[in-house]
Amino acid sequence: MNIKLISLTAIFLWFGLIVFLGIRFVKGNVEKGEDGRAEVVLTKSEKVMILGEMRQLLFTVQGVVDGIEKNNSKAIAEAALNGGTKMMLDDNASLMLKLPVAFKMQGIGVHKYFDQIANEAQKGAAKDKILSMLNTQLQNCISCHAAYQFKVN
Ligand code: HEC
Repeated sequence: MNIKLISLTAIFLWFGLIVFLGIRFVKGNVEKGEDGRAEVVLTKSEKVMILGEMRQLLFTVQGVVDGIEKNNSKAIAEAALNGGTKMMLDDNASLMLKLPVAFKMQGIGVHKYFDQIANEAQKGAAKDKILSMLNTQLQNCISCHAAYQFKVN
């Protein structure tokens, strides 16, 4: 093999890898589940990690409701920030290739919206406004749960 052929092969392989990773990033690692929802196929530890994040989101919802009940904007903002974009910092690259792009977008959307709720609370928004935002947020949770489930490979 001459050097030109080796370089061309290397470029070709790189290109193939980039296309493969691009497709994986969009489609994720998904199968069709028995109940019609898409099954995102993960390792056991990835599923444990992501379900832990889910329970953190439920904890956040409860914290916001508690703050609304007690009319405490500071508590609402603190709770909402804990479910906000700062939660995304430890998400790893391999997991990002398994989650379909629509799933990632919805996940990011939920974290950003908790940041927005925190922001409104910090500005002293009325209870009704926070409650209405929380209603919208719960619809975001429900729409993702209606579309996806996890499966361990
Ligand atoms: C991007 C998609 C997505 C979003 C957005 C989302 N979830 Fe989930 N959640 C899932 C999936 C998938 C499961 C696993 C369901 C299954 O396997 O049947 C799950 C599971 C859960 C669980 C169960 C955890 C456990 O230990 O079994 C809780 C609680 C939960 N979500 C809360 C929430 C709350 C609250 C929100 C909104 C603030 C939310 N989720 C938003 C996808 C999402």
